[in-house]
Amino acid sequence: MSSASTGNQLDQGNVNGTYVCGLDELTPGTPALTEIDGIRVALVRVRTDADQDPVVYAINDRCSHANVSLSEGEVQVEGDVCDIECWLHGSRFDLRTGQPSGPPATEPVMTYPVEVSEGDVYVDVSADSDPA
Ligand code: FES
Repeated sequence: MSSASTGNQLDQGNVNGTYVCGLDELTPGTPALTEIDGIRVALVRVRTDADQDPVVYAINDRCSHANVSLSEGEVQVEGDVCDIECWLHGSRFDLRTGQPSGPPATEPVMTYPVEVSEGDVYVDVSADSDPA
């Protein structure tokens, strides 16, 4: 996915953010790149049990170590681990917090609130005032 999404900001009821895509467009465990208001965002749908709500994380696509696309990295979700790996030097970033788990990256990557409503995915990038 590399669709650009602008101007579809929603704030209706419990849904906040910009419509990005349908949930069924995201393959669990495979990052998808999108762009929202000029900000490149890696979306990761995490596989869940059938009786659980789907979980989608949104993290800024730019590795904090260098200008590398995190959406080209691998996702690891197992137990308490919920990371995306930068393919260039191997730093892993927690999809929930953006914190790196180890060097060479030392700075966190911004993460964004995600809402899934009626099969649609919304991401709120309004807190990011410094698009990468
Ligand atoms: S560019 Fe991502 S860890 Fe170096």
